[in-house]
Amino acid sequence: MRKPIIAGNWKMHMTVPEARELINGILPNVKTRDSVEIVVAPTFTVLTSVADAIKGSNVSLAAQNVYWEESGAFTGEISPLMVKDAGCSHVIIGHSERRQLFGETDETVNRRVKAALKHSLHAILCIGETLEERKSGSTFKILEKQLSGALNGVEDLAGVTVAYEPVWAIGTGMKATDEQANEAHGFIRGWIRDNYGASAASGIRILYGGSVKPDNVDGLMAQPDVDGALVGGASLKADSFSRLVNFKPV
Ligand code: PGA
Repeated sequence: MRKPIIAGNWKMHMTVPEARELINGILPNVKTRDSVEIVVAPTFTVLTSVADAIKGSNVSLAAQNVYWEESGAFTGEISPLMVKDAGCSHVIIGHSERRQLFGETDETVNRRVKAALKHSLHAILCIGETLEERKSGSTFKILEKQLSGALNGVEDLAGVTVAYEPVWAIGTGMKATDEQANEAHGFIRGWIRDNYGASAASGIRILYGGSVKPDNVDGLMAQPDVDGALVGGASLKADSFSRLVNFKPV
């Protein structure tokens, strides 16, 4: 059985007092939810404050990005060692905003994934097609390209979770239908089976991301190949994120 993951991507939101208020609002509502892995991904400047707040709880901490070098003259970058030092066990890699706005490529995503795994950080690898790519029928081709690029030279997927995030569904309110999500996840799992074998395919968690909300999470989580959600907007309020964590598959 794959343990579902509900992960909140706080993106570029939250000062320290706001982050403390948010996490302190979430913790009491999710503390008995042992059947779900709960992850929050705050911005770098509030990681240590959130790390303090979640100590001893069932919530894990993720960074939103990581550089591949351990230290050195790389002004503005943050290394895997620093991310771990700040209390993170997970890191989001290759989010479409990084790909689209900050020049991230399959090659740089691959370097980050390898660096994360080398330092025992669990990589939440984001992939997904644009609207044009979906319309032109190339969704699976794009997913395959992103998977093979990001995982090039990665031999073991034990430290990897894949997040399928169609770009057209992120922040738009246009969630993929449950069937579209499940279909893409099935493709991803099939690719993993072909390249890593049956046990890697049945063990890997595949999250959906893109306009997941309290009113659509239950149907999504009922899909057989959907193992959780990576959530932006709805993770910024304690009540809505808590509701997502406490999903009830229908
Ligand atoms: P959204 O973002 O939930 O606001 O659509 C999802 C994401 O970018 O991970």
